Amino acid sequence: MRGELLCIGHRGAMGHEPENTLLSIEKAISLGASWVEIDVYFVDGHLVVIHDNRLERTTDGTGYTCEKTFGHLCSLNAGKGQKIPTLEEVFTSVNGRAGLNIELKGSQTTEPVISLIKEQVEQGWSYENILVSSFNHRELLNVKRLNPKVRTGALIVGLPIDNAAFAERLGCYSVHLSIDFIDKVFVDDAHKRGLKVFVFTVNEPEDIVLMESLGVDGVFTDYPERVVKTRAGVTIYRG
Ligand code: G3P
Ligand code: MG
Repeated sequence: MRGELLCIGHRGAMGHEPENTLLSIEKAISLGASWVEIDVYFVDGHLVVIHDNRLERTTDGTGYTCEKTFGHLCSLNAGKGQKIPTLEEVFTSVNGRAGLNIELKGSQTTEPVISLIKEQVEQGWSYENILVSSFNHRELLNVKRLNPKVRTGALIVGLPIDNAAFAERLGCYSVHLSIDFIDKVFVDDAHKRGLKVFVFTVNEPEDIVLMESLGVDGVFTDYPERVVKTRAGVTIYRG
């Protein structure tokens, strides 16, 4: 029998609080997410937690994220007075209360992320509670080359002809699919290969039920409380 559907807070709990902020992460944990997903860029020698390659959508800044100084990024408002957190601040804030899924964005992010993970594991985090994911599958290979103990998750949008074979070849722990491209054939194939299947972004109660029925292992959601309630068999409505 499969375990219960894992609830992964997407950019924290971005349905409730400004995405990828400490406030959003705290909200996800308080709503029952057992994992939190965040997006990370390496900018000016620092790992910063932000989704976009530009600043306009989520902050009061302008221009390309990677062209700024760290000091400038720290001066920005990421919503409700929140700052753009560093990855280290996120590790400290979560402090083992949830698993952390670090999605690599931008270039040059892998090596500093792997170094920081090693430091965090030395300070008490467990490899089982950390998962590094990316749409850039070459970087996932790089992760395994740098530290085979780090678990990786392959992000894709689409259904490959050979299903989850690519993720097995990459040595991944999990494969992360878009809800727009998922079926039982893929889920069963991934499971046969020993891979977990996580799906993004699952917000509608009907879709949460559907993912459970497909045998999916976990979902990324902007509303962690909806996954918790659906798992408990409580009928919920949007809003
Ligand atoms: O990791 C799941 C999901 O976050 C991938 O897409 O664009 O939200 O980073 P995106
Ligand atoms: Mg992401």
